Amino acid sequence: MRMYDLIIKKKQGAPLSAEEIRFMIDGYTKGEIPDYQMSAMMMAICFRGMNEEETFELTHAMAESGDMLDLSAIRGIKVDKHSTGGVGDKTSLALTPIVASCGVKIAKMSGRGLGHTGGTIDKLESITGFHTDISTDTFIRNVNEIGIAIMGQTKDLAPADKKLYALRDVTGTVDQMSLIASSIMSKKLAAGADAIVLDVKTGSGAFMKKKEDSFALAREMVAIGKSAGRKMTAVISNMDEPLGRKVGNAMEVEEAIDTLMGKGPEDFTELVETLGAYMLKAGGITPDADEAVKMIREAVSSGKALDKFAEFVKAQGGNEKEVYDPSLLPKSRIVRELKSEEAGYIGKIECEEVGISAMILGGGRKVSTDTIDPSVGIELLKKCGDRVEKGEPYAVIHANDEGKLEECVKRLAASYTFTDRKPEKLPTITGVIE
Ligand code: URA
Repeated sequence: MRMYDLIIKKKQGAPLSAEEIRFMIDGYTKGEIPDYQMSAMMMAICFRGMNEEETFELTHAMAESGDMLDLSAIRGIKVDKHSTGGVGDKTSLALTPIVASCGVKIAKMSGRGLGHTGGTIDKLESITGFHTDISTDTFIRNVNEIGIAIMGQTKDLAPADKKLYALRDVTGTVDQMSLIASSIMSKKLAAGADAIVLDVKTGSGAFMKKKEDSFALAREMVAIGKSAGRKMTAVISNMDEPLGRKVGNAMEVEEAIDTLMGKGPEDFTELVETLGAYMLKAGGITPDADEAVKMIREAVSSGKALDKFAEFVKAQGGNEKEVYDPSLLPKSRIVRELKSEEAGYIGKIECEEVGISAMILGGGRKVSTDTIDPSVGIELLKKCGDRVEKGEPYAVIHANDEGKLEECVKRLAASYTFTDRKPEKLPTITGVIE
C-alpha cells in the first residue's frame, strides 16, 4: 500500500477502507508517512469528506495509536467532558469543580488552544505552578482522593491525534466534521471515562458555523461513543458571540472563579448549569434535571465548588491563593477602552474575529512554538442586544505590546456591528442529543 495512492483515491472522492485508514494512521504515528503527504490527505478530506464508516474507523485507529487508559482503579462512574472549541470558552474551569464537589468523579483530558479558540490547559497554566503533565498514577490517585484531575494529552495517549491536531492547526484543515469528530472521540475513548458529556459549539466563533452541521457533528460523536459502550450526551450551545465577557487566559480563569463565587455572567452560568446537570445525571448522582441544578447552585453558594477548585489546583502544583484572590493572577501592562462612536444596540459580534484579536495580543499561538502571554485579553462590556450610548466604552483590551494593541483595536472594532433597533438576545442552548 502507498500513501500516494490513498491521497489520489480520496482526492477523487472514493471512501477509504478500514485497512487503508489503519495503514495511514499507523504509518503517520511511526513517522513513516511525512507531514506533507498527511497535509495533502487532510485537505482532500476537507473537500471530499468521509462517510460514517470511515469516520468510525479513523477514530478507533487514532484512539488505538497509543495507550488506552484503564481507569478501573477509580471507584464509581468516571465522567469526562469536551468542547468542540470556542471563544471565551472557560466552561471546564468552573464546571468540573462544581460537579466534582457534588460527587461526580471527573477524569478529564484537556487540550491547548487550536486556531482562534482557546484551550483549557493554556488557561489553567495562568495559575502559578499549575501543570497537567501528570503521570497516569497521579491522575488516578487524584480522581480517587479528591474527585477531580485534568491531564494533558501525553505522547502515549492518542499520539496520532496529537500529531494530526498540530498539523491541522497550521494547514487550514481544522473545520471538517469527520476530522473534528475523530480527533475529539479518539482522545475521549483512549482516556477511558465511562460517560462523556460534549459541548458542541455552533455559530460564527465555532468550527461548525451552521446549526445543521453542529447537530450532525454532535450526532456523529454520540454514535461513535455509544458504539464503544460509553454513555454519551451532547449539548449544542451558542458561539455566535464569545461566551461570558472575558477572552484571554488569566482573564478567563478570573471569570470562572467569579462564577464559582456565584457572580458569573448569565450565559456562562446557564451553560455551566446545563452541562453540570447532564454530568450529574451521567455520574449517577441524580436523574432529575431540576434537582441537579439545585445541587449545583448549592455547591456554588456554600463555597464547596470554589474549595474543590482550590484543592484541584493545589494537587496539580498550582498556587491556591490565586483561586481565593484572583487579583494575584497575571495582569497586563496596558489597558485600553474601545468607545462607541454612535448610540444604538450591539447587533452582531464576529466571534471568530474576537478570538483572532485575542490571539494577536499574544493570548494564542500563530505557530505551535509560540509562547502564550497569560495576562492579555479582551473584556466585552457589551454583548449582542445591549444598549450603548455615544462615547460609552463597549470593550476593554488588555495588552503588553503597543503594536499588537493597535492591530487588535482595528480588528476588534471591526468585529462589532451596531444597530438602531434592539435585536433579540441569543439563546445559550440550542439543543441536546442523548
Ligand atoms: N477539539 C479537538 O480536540 N479536536 C478538534 O479537531 C477540534 C476541537
